[in-house]
Amino acid sequence: MKIKFKYAIYILIIGSFFSLTSCADAGDDSNIAKAIALGSPIINNATDVNSNSFKISWPRVYDADNYELDVATNNTFESYVTGYQAKPVSTLNEQVIGLKEATNYFYRVRAINSSETSKNSAVIQVTTLEGNDPEPTTYLKEASTTFMVGMAVKAEQLTNGSKYDEILKNEFSSISAEYEMKMNIIEPTKGNYDWSKADAIVDYAIANGINVHGHALVWHESAPDWLANYTGTDAEFEQEVKNYITAVLTRYKGKVASWDVVNEAINDSNGALRNSIYRQKMGDNFVAKCFQFAREADPDVLLFYNDYAVTTNKTKQTAIFNLIDDLQANNTPIDGVGFQMHIKYNSPSVDEIKTAVDKAVERDLKLHFSELDVRVNPNKDITTFTTERAVAQKNKIKEVVSVYNAIPLENKYAITVWGMKDDDSWVINQYNNTNEWPLLYDSNFEIKKAHTGFLQGLE
Ligand code: G3I
Repeated sequence: MKIKFKYAIYILIIGSFFSLTSCADAGDDSNIAKAIALGSPIINNATDVNSNSFKISWPRVYDADNYELDVATNNTFESYVTGYQAKPVSTLNEQVIGLKEATNYFYRVRAINSSETSKNSAVIQVTTLEGNDPEPTTYLKEASTTFMVGMAVKAEQLTNGSKYDEILKNEFSSISAEYEMKMNIIEPTKGNYDWSKADAIVDYAIANGINVHGHALVWHESAPDWLANYTGTDAEFEQEVKNYITAVLTRYKGKVASWDVVNEAINDSNGALRNSIYRQKMGDNFVAKCFQFAREADPDVLLFYNDYAVTTNKTKQTAIFNLIDDLQANNTPIDGVGFQMHIKYNSPSVDEIKTAVDKAVERDLKLHFSELDVRVNPNKDITTFTTERAVAQKNKIKEVVSVYNAIPLENKYAITVWGMKDDDSWVINQYNNTNEWPLLYDSNFEIKKAHTGFLQGLE
């Protein structure tokens, strides 16, 4: 009897515990269910990661009948990988397939049974590996059947049998002088012309059946000191410029197919004409005058206006095309426009490139992407050339080339790359950044993913 009483006490205590719990839950059955809700999976890191797939797995969740898997390219799950939004999975693992190389992905999983769905697991990030680019089966100039592929060169690189020479002959159908056909090199002192470097470049091109694009007749940064600090009258200054243009175009008539007549005449900040020595001495119509001098010296050569940030700086873009509209309205002989295309791995966008390109096409101009390079480290946030940046650079070059390749044939001229190998590039000095890799070849003359991107843009 004593024992039975003791059990009764226990039953009472346990009973009151349950009744207290029920009171606290105010008799809500669904809340009781919540207290023992279906657990969310504890997800594992991805395994078997390669360039287009990875495998994910998780331990079984008690009472789960099935699972749902999400895979997205952003950690807020707004951009799902096709087929991987709440994908039902009846096992405890999944091979995620059809992915892009060197790309970040995010995944999570939920448990489900006939009556409920668990909360999401933690979100895990995984980056696919780089894929192997196929060995090229054609050279750039062979793959590009409707426009020339150009390279900026220095005379010293053109020694017969050098690595530069070998690659130039194989891959490129046009060359521009990186600096040796500018006025500070050709006429370093008043009236004394030094044609040695320019001749070496032009002769090399002719000997090897390569086009020459002349760069550049009038550029404030390459005005020789004697001209930049000119002490004569404005009329004498203008005559010096005319003499120079005439001398250069006469010497290279029939040898140099095209020239950047005026380079970078527009300000970055407000789209006004840059207040260069040329503008100060020759007036606001100095651009038109220079084109006129060039045409008088050579009736057949193609004449280009060349500038940078044409795709990204909208104020400047408008000003450049206003300048060109004025030239055309006044029958000034302009044949084409050069977009330098010193760009970054993440800018400009395809739409920005197309918008600027359309403006050239609408005006019946030849278009030259005249100084292409793609910085991968503009914010100095990497110290080695990561696969992710190499792929981004490749994709950007592919976009640039494919936008160019889609323009009408009559507007095409060339895409010129501004230097052969990464460590030759002007951007290293300009931005004081040795951690830059902006070109198509690495410092050992090996082709980069960027080179594959160029070829893919031509497909
Ligand atoms: O003047 C000396 C010359 O006497 C000497 O023979 C030579 C030996 O290396 O050095 C010469 O200085 C060179 C200078 O140009 C001459 O103007 C530098 O080495 C050379 O690196 C320098 O920079 C060039 C720059 O234009 C100025 O001409 C860059 O290589 C070239 O990439 C850069 O190109 C410009 C485009 O023309 C226009 N758009 C922007 C682009 C980058 O700034």
